[in-house]
Amino acid sequence: MSKRMLVTYFSASGTTRTVAERLAHAIGADLKEIVPAEPYTPADLDWRDSASRTSVEHAHREMRPALAEPIDVEPYDVVFVGYPLWWETAPRVVRTFLESEDWKGRTIVTFATSGSSTRGADGVQLHDSAPAAHWVNGRRIAVSESESKLAKWVEGLNL
Ligand SMILES: Cc1cc2nc3c(=O)[nH]c(=O)nc-3n(C[C@H](O)[C@H](O)[C@H](O)COP(=O)(O)O)c2cc1C
Repeated sequence: MSKRMLVTYFSASGTTRTVAERLAHAIGADLKEIVPAEPYTPADLDWRDSASRTSVEHAHREMRPALAEPIDVEPYDVVFVGYPLWWETAPRVVRTFLESEDWKGRTIVTFATSGSSTRGADGVQLHDSAPAAHWVNGRRIAVSESESKLAKWVEGLNL
């Protein structure tokens, strides 16, 4: 039987959204956005400013920015979770999402976009936010990556 697949993503400036839309189309998955209750402004995204919102969230591992609305993963067997790499890890709001759902019997595959980093895209650091899930290591996806290459990648995962 074919797996029911969902692509979720958080995107502050649109790059991860582009990749997520292409991935969902490539594999025939549903698509849902992880939307923070409070959107990130350009000032929030200033990684050079140690007082910016992203810098403060990065410095405090326990911070969990609220979601605008929950995403129900119940109908799905496989959930892709996409995010931009911020300091080579996932934004804290991704953990808010992971920690608010029941992952027993579900597979999670991460993917990430970045300026250049690849570290953090495999999702290993996130396992403690959804220990009940079956985790499959993800990877960085370049914004230029084609739909056929994405489909091939997922095929190779043997989900
Ligand atoms: C706060 C912050 C930290 C970032 N840290 C990294 C990083 O460690 N390595 C990297 O290659 N890119 C880093 N970037 C760049 C983003 O990962 C990249 O622009 C990403 O594709 C943005 O995705 P989005 O448009 O979906 O938000 C950072 C960007 C921000 C705003």
